[in-house]
Amino acid sequence: MHLTVPVFASTLLMATVALDNGLMRRPPMGWLAWERFRCDIDCEHDPKNCIRQKLFTDMADRLSEDGWRELGYVYVNIDDCWASMQRDEHGRLQADPKRFPGGISRLSRYMHDRGLKLGIYGDMGTHTCGGYPGTPLNKIEIDAQTFADWEVDMLKFDGCYSNATEQEQGYPQMSKALNATGRPIAYSCSWPAYQGGLPPKVDYSLLAKICNLWRNYGDIQDSWESVLNIVDWFFENQEVLIAVAGPGRWNDPDMLIIGDFGLSMDQSRAQMAFWAIMAAPLFMSNDLRSISGGARNILQNKMAIGINQDPLGLQGRRILKEKSGIEVFWRQLSNDASALVFFSRRTDMPYRYQTALGKLNYTTGSYKVHDVFSETTMTLKESTSFVVSVNPTGVVMWYVSAPAKANRLHQFLGNARLRGLARDDLSNVIPPVFL
Ligand code: GLA
Repeated sequence: MHLTVPVFASTLLMATVALDNGLMRRPPMGWLAWERFRCDIDCEHDPKNCIRQKLFTDMADRLSEDGWRELGYVYVNIDDCWASMQRDEHGRLQADPKRFPGGISRLSRYMHDRGLKLGIYGDMGTHTCGGYPGTPLNKIEIDAQTFADWEVDMLKFDGCYSNATEQEQGYPQMSKALNATGRPIAYSCSWPAYQGGLPPKVDYSLLAKICNLWRNYGDIQDSWESVLNIVDWFFENQEVLIAVAGPGRWNDPDMLIIGDFGLSMDQSRAQMAFWAIMAAPLFMSNDLRSISGGARNILQNKMAIGINQDPLGLQGRRILKEKSGIEVFWRQLSNDASALVFFSRRTDMPYRYQTALGKLNYTTGSYKVHDVFSETTMTLKESTSFVVSVNPTGVVMWYVSAPAKANRLHQFLGNARLRGLARDDLSNVIPPVFL
């Protein structure tokens, strides 16, 4: 009785703030075709890279054989340019028959047989951004049912070729239609990105009720400039965005481009760190058949993934912007732990940034600090001054454990002694939590 009341109350509360399909309690992870493979449909001349069945089964093979799936990268998501230019005789979308000979159901079976999930792409409007058939208002139910019949697990619903009024009707309508199919289909909404990403035009409390994740901002491109532009927008607007994120409802700054052509290793670690701090979906858009060992190590870094996937689902924030070009980011994690990221905007040389945990709002105590990318560990008191060396356009990322119990006991004993208590008296005053 004692326990049931608060559990029931919190379930009710969640039902009012997150899309109630039970999906994506942690940020989704997987692979998405768009940034790396775009709308390459020239299978005659570019069979390896064109959008067709084989590209997705190749990626599924890599996800399941190269250690990705076990780390949580389970979605294989089709983006634009998969459809045939015509609907079928029943008015249903259909896959291009040449490029997807088994249709989408064959692909979903392929994924499910390997413990993976399949995502598909649609567009609220007359056409997709790439000019393929879209889903106008009068086709929403039939398209939701078609996706469910194909046994897909996720829908990215883009917003080209529709106006604000149509979107206001269409995005909630698709959410309802997906739920009505009875198949759990995670729902990614591009709606806010088409309306500038900010209130009052964007109603984030409504989005949290109808979508599992949403694109807030423009498309990522294969460059550091693009990553930085996205990071800047998300942290400039962090107060709005943090408030709405949580289990089952995530802000989506777009794909990871680690392993492509535009980022150095330092910049790749920076993208991974920022996406972990932001509790962002981790959809890689890269070629897993030829990815470098360096990029793979970053994407498979267990501590960075653990931070991203923290069950509390609290999106992190920028806490400091120094004149030197160093910025500090922080995210609250479960078990009283936290993550810190030191980032350098400088372009000269590694910068030796001196600070102390106490200066970064940490309370009195002794903290165990794990460096996520160098995999080293140290213990720091909040008052200890330390120096981190941050490379140009790079990061240092830490997982900071809660102050150790032993240390808190030690501190408690110290304080008790200061208060003049004899050691023998202490058994009466040591709080049970330390025993
Ligand atoms: C829009 C989306 C992209 C991608 C393309 C496909 O630009 O934002 O992520 O889906 O359309 O055409």
